[in-house]
Amino acid sequence: MSYQKSKAVLNQLVADLSQFATIIHQTHWYMRGEDFLTLHPKMDEYMDEINDQLDEVAERLITIGGAPYSTLAEFAAHTNLGDETGTYQKSTEERMARLVEGYRYLQALYGKGIEVSGEEGDDVTQDMLIACKGAVEKNIWMLQAKLGKSPEVDTVEIEVKIKG
Ligand SMILES: [Fe+2]
Repeated sequence: MSYQKSKAVLNQLVADLSQFATIIHQTHWYMRGEDFLTLHPKMDEYMDEINDQLDEVAERLITIGGAPYSTLAEFAAHTNLGDETGTYQKSTEERMARLVEGYRYLQALYGKGIEVSGEEGDDVTQDMLIACKGAVEKNIWMLQAKLGKSPEVDTVEIEVKIKG
């Protein structure tokens, strides 16, 4: 069986995880305020985790016969996550809310990948994506807790599109 749909979602993830790592890096650099000393290093942890997921996803894509995007131009052309020039004029709350937004998008995209890899019988990809989705949901919980909110990982619906 060919894993065409799984490959498409995996490459979408390659573009979006690359972009999200950059968004987190921007957050790491531009933040100011009283939580700086704890949140600045926390962003390093988030980036490491996203980069690990990126490497796993890209290498799984290669394993099943695909070809991951691997240039900044390709990531920019295919990602669904927007970016903006860095500014110091943002509150920590706004920055954390932006990260929640990115993680919610990834949660939805991982969900899509779990669905199509299941349909295509690609158990190994599905297993990997389930682990990634769990990690992302945990981050949503913690960031939402920081914002004084409930996680809502089971109620927020986000539409994902595969740019291909
Ligand atoms: Fe740094």
